[in-house]
Amino acid sequence: MTVLELIDKRFTKQPLLQVEGLKTYYPIQRGVFSKAAGFIRAVDDVNLQLYEGETVGLVGESGCGKSTLGRSIVRLEESNSGRILFQNQDITHYSQRQLKAVRTQIQMIFQDPYASLNPKIRIYDALAEPLLVHNLVKRSEVQKEVEQLLHLVGLPRTARDRYPHEFSGGQRQRIGIARAISFRPKLIVCDEPVSALDVSIQAQILNLLQDLQEELKLTYLFIAHGIGAVKQISTRIAVMYLGKIVELAPTEELFRRPKHPYTKLLLQAYPQPDPTLRKLKKLVIQGDVPSPANPPHGCRFHTRCPYVQERCQKEEPVLTTNQHGVACHYPLT
Ligand SMILES: Nc1ncnc2c1ncn2[C@@H]1O[C@H](COP(=O)(O)OP(=O)(O)O)[C@@H](O)[C@H]1O
Ligand SMILES: [Mg+2]
Repeated sequence: MTVLELIDKRFTKQPLLQVEGLKTYYPIQRGVFSKAAGFIRAVDDVNLQLYEGETVGLVGESGCGKSTLGRSIVRLEESNSGRILFQNQDITHYSQRQLKAVRTQIQMIFQDPYASLNPKIRIYDALAEPLLVHNLVKRSEVQKEVEQLLHLVGLPRTARDRYPHEFSGGQRQRIGIARAISFRPKLIVCDEPVSALDVSIQAQILNLLQDLQEELKLTYLFIAHGIGAVKQISTRIAVMYLGKIVELAPTEELFRRPKHPYTKLLLQAYPQPDPTLRKLKKLVIQGDVPSPANPPHGCRFHTRCPYVQERCQKEEPVLTTNQHGVACHYPLT
């Protein structure tokens, strides 16, 4: 999808997913019976919309809340406040029973598919079982469906009789993808699905995800910690820092004209500098990521920002809602 088509869609279409003011905190427990001694603000007031057919890349350093945001969207994590709307339905507080119907439409792919595969169960059964449990196909059609799924993700037919440990990392991720798409979802949250794979395999899996997106009309939230990893696949990129989205823009635009100093720093770390990238003065990132249990006042990035000014220490910037959103008092020009 081109950026223009995307903008067009924004005016004509309702988003598939709307995340509004979402907060997901983890209590810090001191003793077994004591009350929470504080909270880790893993996701702290996130607003994000996903349009049908697009891929939003979600990037940021480890611990900034990407997985928690993904898990909150698929409702594996209970949020403290805010709303999640899927196809205009507010699913934020759906009960397990109500969620059953939605669960098939919102799937998640993990970094380590092995963890979610039972080592004692053959691939055929691992794929067939959810199809039957969720009444997705008739019993008489399960076998054909499993074969079709294996074909779609590029695995041989013989894979059906093998066990998870008999596959390589890349093949296991293909099984994870087959499982996710077997539900015929509309949205898939991909949480670092290629981070643990060899570089050559990464490209194959990314290509597979892109092909499936087109074929099955999927929408992706694609999580990665490096910005380079999402360039190929994303229509837009959201940059997260300490529980907040600090910049959100169409991919090309973000690479060409980063507005947040943090984004600029992430782009510098991108191993193959893009020739179209504006000449950037080398910046040096200072210090460590502060604790999400006690984030800095004002702009959360101010303790590490090379451009910090007085205002940044006091006043928290909000993400602008234009096409190239940025949360910074002094965005780069
Ligand atoms: N189940 C949990 N219980 C307590 N703290 C958690 C839990 N999961 C994540 N966290 C904390 O929340 C913050 C965000 O984590 P996470 O969402 O995993 O970040 P990312 O995926 O960007 O690396 C981190 O400080 C992490 O330690
Ligand atoms: Mg993570």
